Amino acid sequence: MDLDIQDIIIAIDGYSSTGKSSFAKLIAKELGFLYLDSGALYRGVTLLVLERGWNHKGEIDTDALFPALAELDLHFEHNAEGTKTYMGSRCIEGRIRSMKVSSLVSVVAAIPEVRRYVDQRLHELAKNRRVVMDGRDIGTTVFPDAELKIFMTADKKVRAQRRMDELIAKGENVEFQEILDNLEQRDYIDSHRTASPLRQAPDAIVLDNTNLTFEQQMDWLKGILQARFSR
Ligand code: DC
Repeated sequence: MDLDIQDIIIAIDGYSSTGKSSFAKLIAKELGFLYLDSGALYRGVTLLVLERGWNHKGEIDTDALFPALAELDLHFEHNAEGTKTYMGSRCIEGRIRSMKVSSLVSVVAAIPEVRRYVDQRLHELAKNRRVVMDGRDIGTTVFPDAELKIFMTADKKVRAQRRMDELIAKGENVEFQEILDNLEQRDYIDSHRTASPLRQAPDAIVLDNTNLTFEQQMDWLKGILQARFSR
C-alpha cells in the first residue's frame, strides 16, 4: 500500500510487554515517524536511582532524587540500528532493560515529580507532529490531543513468553514464573497508581495482538491511516 499521510501524533498505550515499542519502532521505520519511548525515560530515572543507591527496599530517597532530575539529561539517539537511550553521553540502552530495573520501574514511575519530568522531556523531544510514542498515559495525559490513539493488549502468558524470549536472547537467566509475576505486579501498579494510571482513552482504538504478526498489525494500522489521515 502506498501511503502519503499527514503529520500526526500516534499515541500507543497499553500493558507491559504487549509489543508497543516493537510496533512503534516499525511505524517509525516504515512511515518516517520519530519514535519516542516514554518507558525508556522512566527506566533511565530508575537506573539513576539504583546506581546512586537511592532505593531502600522500595522506598525511594526522593530528597536526593528530585534535585537530580533538574540536571538529568535523558534523550534518544536515532541511527541506522534504531533508537538508543542515553544519559548524557552514556548509552544506557542495555542497562535499562535488565530485570533489576524492570522490578523497580513501576515504583519510580508512580512518583508524580518523576512523571512531570518525563512529560516535560517528551514535549521537548517531540518537536514536530510526526511522532509515534508509546507508554501508559500518552493518549490520556501526555498528548491528550494526539490524532491517533491505540490501546494495545494481549494474553498475559503470551506477553510473559515474549518478554522471556527477549531476556534470554540478551543472555539473562530468568524463570517464566518470575516474569509472569513481574508482569502482573506491573499491570497492577501501573493501573492503580494515583498519578495518571494506565487507562484506555475513550477515543483510543483497541488492538489485541495475541494472535497477530507484526505484518498483520502494520496492515491494520495502514488501513486506519489510509481512511483517516491520507493526504
Ligand atoms: O514500556 P516499559 O515496560 O518500558 O515501561 C516501563 C515502566 O514505566 C512501566 O512499568 C510503567 C512505566 N511507564 C509509565 O508509567 N508511563 C509511561 N508513559 C510509560 C511507562
